[in-house]
Amino acid sequence: METEIEEQKKYIEKVKKINQNKKQKYSILTMGCQLNENDSEKLCGMLEEMGYEKTENQNEADLSLFNTCCVRENAEDKLFGKLGELKKIKEQRGTIIAIGGCMMQEKHITDKIEKSYPYTDIIFGTHTLHKFPEDLYKAIKDKKRQEDILDIDGKIYEDLPIKRDSNIKASVTIMNGCNNFCSYCIVPYVRGRERSREPKAIIKEVEELAKQGYKEITLLGQNVNSYLRVEREKNIKFEEYEGINSFATLLRAINKIEGIERIRFVSPHPKDFTDDVIEAIADCNKVCKLVHLPLQAGNTKVLKEMNRKYTKEQYLDLVKKMKDKIPNLTLSTDIIVGFPGESDEEFEDTLDVVKKVKFEQVYMFIYSRRIGTPGDKMENQIPEEQKHKRFERLKTLVESQISENNKKYVNTKQKILVEGTSKNNENMLTGRTDSNKVVIFEGDKRLIGNMVELEIVSEHIWYLKGENFDRN
Ligand code: 5AD
Ligand code: SF4
Repeated sequence: METEIEEQKKYIEKVKKINQNKKQKYSILTMGCQLNENDSEKLCGMLEEMGYEKTENQNEADLSLFNTCCVRENAEDKLFGKLGELKKIKEQRGTIIAIGGCMMQEKHITDKIEKSYPYTDIIFGTHTLHKFPEDLYKAIKDKKRQEDILDIDGKIYEDLPIKRDSNIKASVTIMNGCNNFCSYCIVPYVRGRERSREPKAIIKEVEELAKQGYKEITLLGQNVNSYLRVEREKNIKFEEYEGINSFATLLRAINKIEGIERIRFVSPHPKDFTDDVIEAIADCNKVCKLVHLPLQAGNTKVLKEMNRKYTKEQYLDLVKKMKDKIPNLTLSTDIIVGFPGESDEEFEDTLDVVKKVKFEQVYMFIYSRRIGTPGDKMENQIPEEQKHKRFERLKTLVESQISENNKKYVNTKQKILVEGTSKNNENMLTGRTDSNKVVIFEGDKRLIGNMVELEIVSEHIWYLKGENFDRN
């Protein structure tokens, strides 16, 4: 494994040599989840070592990179639109076009690129990200299109260069892939089976981040709280380190790392919130008490069709158990409306769960047919119009709950990790609560990167306003 990375380092040097004194620029468009964002940070790391400088303007880039997502249909339209725009620019300035990520693991997509966008230079999948320097070198040298896609599960490579987006918050991928096969979801087909990173490598990375001054760590995985589960169940060898042999023990170990103030994790599955995980969240002071608990649908029959492996009652029981055991717990969730066969009456169960749980945040999605998934083959697809109507109903409910919930913050004290200046007002600082609410306040820029206690003075639908009373 190390030799493969050594091999890539040689290609990094080769491309760097080609780029010498050339001031080459790259643009990158990342679609989808935080795992993709973390992959993009690695791609940026490689590119910058190869002598490329980042530009936000696609039109002036010498290399235009896309890291794609295929969870929902709209990303496809976006990619093809951008590729269309790039054709002319490429003719004028010879831009190298590279496309990677989840969408490239779908044959019908790569076929379409070949047919309609033949001027694409590099296509790589989710299992070959580490080989990007080699693919790029060959594309430049041989002036031939490189297609580098593997169907087998890729390993998790260590020690790739990385250029992180923030110097306060960092993402750390701890596992990859998914074995759940929810019937609407394409992820298991494009990201492969579950595999976890070695505990020691994760601890080393977080310790290094702490040394560099990072304060918040988000642990990532398509099924993050099943970390090392497959390894344990199938007796796949891994090296125990500091007693880490599960997600719960990993949380406890990271909680001890000095300098790190907050730990978050996405995206978990309700079935993996075993008692040990719940206890670890409760016990670990740095683990944020906002937990993402994807519901997807509130009706038991729909959940069964979705292959979610829990009923409405089991979900609500889990929420109760977690709220009992974890003081100050807040929850966020994902919901899909309009799954095939979902009746109006069954959709009411989704609204009912939302009313009962009172989520801190709800990520709402309209069901999108994904080729190759069981959901796509179901006959009773819901008409678009009906899906949109349900979406609007859910949105109205969620927004009214969020604004109701925001009122509870007013006149409370909240610990905020200060992240920077506000996008809309340079004179204001912005940060987030434990429950991930944005808080805007007036303060000294030297507070950036630190935890402060603020009093919340007012609420607005998407942010809270705070005041720093013990400033001086
Ligand atoms: N259609 C709509 N939403 C989907 N998601 C996953 N697959 C689909 C689909 N086919 C949503 C789920 C998941 C989130 C990341 O995306 O809610 O939790
Ligand atoms: Fe998709 Fe379900 Fe796996 Fe999440 S758990 S990635 S929704 S198949």
